[in-house]
Amino acid sequence: MADTDPTAAARAVIVTGGASGIGAATCRTLAAHGFSVVVSDRQVAAGEAVAAEVGGLFVRHDVGEPADWHRAVEAATDRFGGIHGLVAAAGVKSEYLLDSPEDPGLFERTVRVNQYGVLLGLQVVGRRLREAGAGSIVTIASAAGMPPAQSPDLAYVSTKWGVRGLSRTAARALAPHGVRVNTVLPGLIRTPMIAGVVDADPERVRQISAAIPLGRMGEPEEIARAAYFFISDLSSYATGSELVVDGGSLA
Ligand SMILES: NC(=O)c1ccc[n+]([C@@H]2O[C@H](COP(=O)([O-])OP(=O)(O)OC[C@H]3O[C@@H](n4cnc5c(N)ncnc54)[C@H](O)[C@@H]3O)[C@@H](O)[C@H]2O)c1
Repeated sequence: MADTDPTAAARAVIVTGGASGIGAATCRTLAAHGFSVVVSDRQVAAGEAVAAEVGGLFVRHDVGEPADWHRAVEAATDRFGGIHGLVAAAGVKSEYLLDSPEDPGLFERTVRVNQYGVLLGLQVVGRRLREAGAGSIVTIASAAGMPPAQSPDLAYVSTKWGVRGLSRTAARALAPHGVRVNTVLPGLIRTPMIAGVVDADPERVRQISAAIPLGRMGEPEEIARAAYFFISDLSSYATGSELVVDGGSLA
């Protein structure tokens, strides 16, 4: 680990959705900067593989389950002696469009992971960090949670707007206790979440890329570096802030 951050000093960070895409890239980036990593995901084999690669700990974790959050925090504390932070990257898309059949179950499943799963992290990890008097939480929303409306997925977009509100509210509540909360808003990033778009149709990829000012989709590592910025002391005076990383699409 050549690029070790002296401020990391064995501090442990829980990364939800750590088995795949942006979460997995965040695990690698944090480990490369000297953080201890707790890879949290409901996917066991992929999560264990990332944990082995980064010398971290895997915890099987459904972010919509309060008990799983308590287990994850205890496992992290047992292994690393405490926790420094959380990157809440677990998420699902819903494809719940205006003309979709009315489906309360689909809406609730999307909210449960993308929004309630973040709320639980802010509560359970936030309280633990508050007791310690220091720490940093990063939530992953989406450029689709910023105006102008860019995605037709009603359920997904509403949860990403929700993450922004949750994060700012928690940032205010936790700031007096030395705990920071910031949000990264990715544009279109090449991960399994959008594999249906990018693997199926090269022409569509060309069209999407041409519409992005920087001329391409983003890579997971480019979001991971933004998460690292907020987890580390590089961002020591930032809380309640939002960083859009979208190749200029919202510019
Ligand atoms: N890829 C993009 O273009 C893009 C754009 C904007 C925002 N995002 C957001 O970035 C985050 C990461 O997405 P990604 O693109 O890396 O997707 P991904 O599908 O590669 O990874 C998501 C991970 O979340 C995990 N997960 C899903 N439900 C879970 C649950 N209930 N409990 C625990 N883990 C669960 C999955 O198992 C998976 O490993 C998501 O919040 C997503 O909404 C992605």
